[in-house]
Amino acid sequence: MPSALFSPIKLAGLELPNRIVVSPMCQYSADDGVATDWHVSHLGMLANSGAALLVVEATGVERRGRITHGCTGIYSDDCEAAMARMVAHCRRYGVAKLGIQLAHAGRKASAARPWEGAQALKSGDDPWETIGPSAIPFGPNWHTPREMTADDMARVRDAFVDAAKRALRAGFDAIELHGAHGYLLHSFVSPISNRRSDGYGGSLAARMRYPLEVAQAVRAVVPKSIPLGARITGTDWLDGGLTPDDAVTFAKALKGAGLDFVCVSSGAVSSDARPAVAANVNVEFAAQVKREAEIATRAVGMIVTPKQAEGIIADGKADMVALARGFLHNPHWGWHAAQELGADVARPPQYARVAPKLWAGAAMRD
Ligand SMILES: Cc1cc2nc3c(=O)[nH]c(=O)nc-3n(C[C@H](O)[C@H](O)[C@H](O)COP(=O)(O)O)c2cc1C
Repeated sequence: MPSALFSPIKLAGLELPNRIVVSPMCQYSADDGVATDWHVSHLGMLANSGAALLVVEATGVERRGRITHGCTGIYSDDCEAAMARMVAHCRRYGVAKLGIQLAHAGRKASAARPWEGAQALKSGDDPWETIGPSAIPFGPNWHTPREMTADDMARVRDAFVDAAKRALRAGFDAIELHGAHGYLLHSFVSPISNRRSDGYGGSLAARMRYPLEVAQAVRAVVPKSIPLGARITGTDWLDGGLTPDDAVTFAKALKGAGLDFVCVSSGAVSSDARPAVAANVNVEFAAQVKREAEIATRAVGMIVTPKQAEGIIADGKADMVALARGFLHNPHWGWHAAQELGADVARPPQYARVAPKLWAGAAMRD
């Protein structure tokens, strides 16, 4: 039977030859928001991984929306030019389509890189003021964000729109909004971080209002042929937090705002959330969203082996799978998955002799 994982899918006007996505992964290697040669090298490698879609890391729509001093941004001409250079490189030498995750870190901004402790920046480390729906910190010893005013909300919404325009000019094929992992848009939706008393807090409908305004504003400038999606939260893993039913409601609303897909992740809205660590951790949340919201749905989290990924698609639990650490461990994960599942992937001509002939035992010529 042909592989379900290696069957094509179309998102808006974008044809993808398989269902494998490289999940967005911060590299903490930008120079004041500007992508560097590290990104060209890292993304250039993953553009030849067998994944149909490669999503560039959470990229700040404004300078203060970066998580760390090393995070990429797309808020200046220099940021845009560096992304355009990286896209041109991946296009010239790679085969994957290219997406970008547009993000604002909100109350989790102004943090140290993981290898420098991943905590809130200290006074000597050039910290900056953080913003959020409410003046509630992510956890002990984190910055207390300033509650966003109407002006802040309009500015950040417009920054998402400008960032989307820059991403289109840089040549990306797909755009996704980061609405998970405790960053700004998620922090509006979650009752753990949003205690506003205006029209943007209280009921789930009110908490979703700002992210939906952002999604609508971005959709208005992204042509219908370009897929626009969002990463959302399947559960906050906290009593009183977001649930899978809330994820369905949010996904339906995003679909109503014109979005083409969602990626279902979970957790990280507060430092005391304790996510499950288990294979396919978010797959059942994704399955519920796919079933009930009827939107193209991607699953992510602890998907490691080709058979596992194949099962998720073949069982109809998700339309796509994203892997993060699996691709860092094995940048040709998609090639090996194709070999194991009896499928094939596009490879650059320089590497064409590796398969499938090699695996069929054909003699190698020098
Ligand atoms: C190095 C690294 C950086 C990450 N950066 C991002 C990011 O920029 N945006 C995001 O939504 N998730 C980010 N994540 C989470 C991954 O996209 C993914 O959801 C998570 O690692 C679970 O998938 P996995 O089990 O395949 O690694 C990151 C994960 C890793 C390991």
